Amino acid sequence: MRSRYWFHWVSAQGIPRLVMRLQARRGDPFAELWGGHTGWAAPYPLIERLRAEGRLVHTPIAWATFDYELCRSMLRDSRFGVRPVGDYTAPEPLRSLAKRFPLPPSPVEPPSMLVIDPPEHTRMRRPVASAFTPRAIERLRDRVETVTDELLARLPTRCTVDLIQAFAVRVPIAIISQMLGFPDEDQARFLHWGDRMTPLLDIGIPWRTHRAALSAMDQMNDYLGSHIERLRLDPGEDILSSLVSGGELDSHALAATGSLLMGAGFETTVNLIGNGVVQLLAHPDQLQRLRNEPQLWPNAVEEILRFDPPVQTTTRTASADVEIGGVQLREGDTVIVSLAGANRDPGAFSDPLRFDIGRDNAREHLAFSSGVHSCLGARLARMEAGYALRALFERFPDLRLAGPLERRRLFTVHGCARMPVELGRRAPVPEPIPA
Ligand code: HEM
Repeated sequence: MRSRYWFHWVSAQGIPRLVMRLQARRGDPFAELWGGHTGWAAPYPLIERLRAEGRLVHTPIAWATFDYELCRSMLRDSRFGVRPVGDYTAPEPLRSLAKRFPLPPSPVEPPSMLVIDPPEHTRMRRPVASAFTPRAIERLRDRVETVTDELLARLPTRCTVDLIQAFAVRVPIAIISQMLGFPDEDQARFLHWGDRMTPLLDIGIPWRTHRAALSAMDQMNDYLGSHIERLRLDPGEDILSSLVSGGELDSHALAATGSLLMGAGFETTVNLIGNGVVQLLAHPDQLQRLRNEPQLWPNAVEEILRFDPPVQTTTRTASADVEIGGVQLREGDTVIVSLAGANRDPGAFSDPLRFDIGRDNAREHLAFSSGVHSCLGARLARMEAGYALRALFERFPDLRLAGPLERRRLFTVHGCARMPVELGRRAPVPEPIPA
């Protein structure tokens, strides 16, 4: 087991890691952004340096684009597909050899819908999509509000609180756990597994991180396997039960879908809430505007997604020779699509480095990607974060940071690991927030 993991790490992660570390030392901004010492903490200056190099930039491991129009058109272009990391980072013949040692079900390996193309993608996504329709998400609103209100009521006001662990992650994990039919008492395990597995979205992670991620994945698969067996005998009213009884997905596909939904369900939204708090505290004029004009909250959530997106990049691989942005790509060429870069493109957003909750076209951001893989949970994430942020700032009008932020050392997912705050006085519970 261990040697299989090691082989995968060497081919998919170890070699790009070495290349990027060497390039980062030489001052290459892309290598710094993706594997250096500052990229995870301060990606935006590096993104602007790379934008200045052109619409499509050649990097040590792939092409990359920070251009809104190119990102958007590539995400919607059927000549570009998705691939698991090792497929474009590992050199041949290691790539073919690695395929002989299949990895356990995971959100980042086929048949997870995130890394497969139509028509298989459609087969995997369709049965899940019915749980994310506007009506299905609207039915969760009361639960989101109750969970948020209870968490806020329990937060201590006389000491420093880590807002990420005590609040930001608790709202989305409670909701996705319920949607998937997991007992509340198992949330701590999922938090642990999610934290270990999220680095798998990055390129060039260290061996220890990779090993910890795959061992968390093994544990999660064992758990999911038993859970799915229980649901076969005693189905509930949740997404996994309906997938099990629908019979369209085999056990491997069920486990991949379960772990994708669970991970995507809280590892991203926690950062939308966290990044929202950071930006609103850093821009008190914008927070004041929200206090005066609370109807701007939904647009403020869009501006947070544009300005400081929780998922910074994705990738697409050309499935045929194709010309894009004046560059001839060959079949198999991969492009790093910088969603964060697109969101700050001056060609798409005026004065893009300004955080403006009243921005007319904030909602045109690419934080949820676009095209066939566009985020299935976008509506849910907007609802959870919209309510959580507004309720937090209304209940605790004097909320302030009480120490330095601890950023997550991740490149694809962008957010805080810890956020010490002092909540200050607790304001009376306001009138219910209109939908
Ligand atoms: C702020 C929160 C979120 C952000 C920023 C986000 C972002 C994204 C992005 C960028 C993608 C597409 C990646 C690509 O094109 O390659 C994606 C896909 C996906 N997201 Fe989200 N997500 C969020 C919340 C959620 C939630 C709450 C769920 C589910 C409960 C979810 C489920 C999914 C799924 C299943 C996919 C795969 C869709 C597919 O491949 O067809 N996401 N998300």
